Amino acid sequence: MRIDIVTGLPRLLDSPLQESILHRAQEKGLAELVVHDLRDYTHDKHRTIDDAPYGGGAGMVLKPEPFFECVETLRLARQYDEVILLAADGEPFTQQLATELSLEDRLLLLCGHYKGVDQRVRDHLATRAVSIGDYVLTGGELAAAVIVDAVVRLIPGVLNDGSSALTDSYQDGLLGSPQYTRPADYRGMAVPEVLLSGNHDDIARWREAERERRTAERLARTEIEKKHTHD
Ligand code: ADE
Repeated sequence: MRIDIVTGLPRLLDSPLQESILHRAQEKGLAELVVHDLRDYTHDKHRTIDDAPYGGGAGMVLKPEPFFECVETLRLARQYDEVILLAADGEPFTQQLATELSLEDRLLLLCGHYKGVDQRVRDHLATRAVSIGDYVLTGGELAAAVIVDAVVRLIPGVLNDGSSALTDSYQDGLLGSPQYTRPADYRGMAVPEVLLSGNHDDIARWREAERERRTAERLARTEIEKKHTHD
């Protein structure tokens, strides 16, 4: 899979894409992650990528021309399955969407700016706008890193343990079960007996029960929070 990312702040993405599993995925040739500097698609001395909003108001808006010129240039070389604008008011990013995107060959991510991007980018370049949560970041770069991370780890062969991603929290709608490693007793905090038993059926049953218990607990908490915010 190839993912291109367009941003006015390319350095923000350097380290998130170059460490650990994402680094290895690229080394293994399973993912190609390419960052493009929006400023390379400007024509003025100051390499301007934003401007004041029409109609007035605080903050600057990212200009349309660099985005259009960048995306048009990239499209000369390849077509994209999805062009995703990162925006706080986009559709929510979920494990389901991560799974869908992991099945694509070519993604193009456009990083917005907290005040916004000229609407014409959203209407005519992006196939969808995606948000990683109901809070406002200074820009789409960290959101792009989150999406790349969640998507690339689902590509077959990226995780060493082939079945590992399938037992993740959310992958089948349930949260994961608690995990423990040595020592069996740390400062009096003991690992549940069943995990030391060597009985794989018992362990599988315990894990399933824990997944259901944790999911039910989380749902109950979310319901209580919802009730409080509506009161
Ligand atoms: N840009 C600013 N906030 C964002 C968010 N929550 N998700 C995606 N992009 C953003």
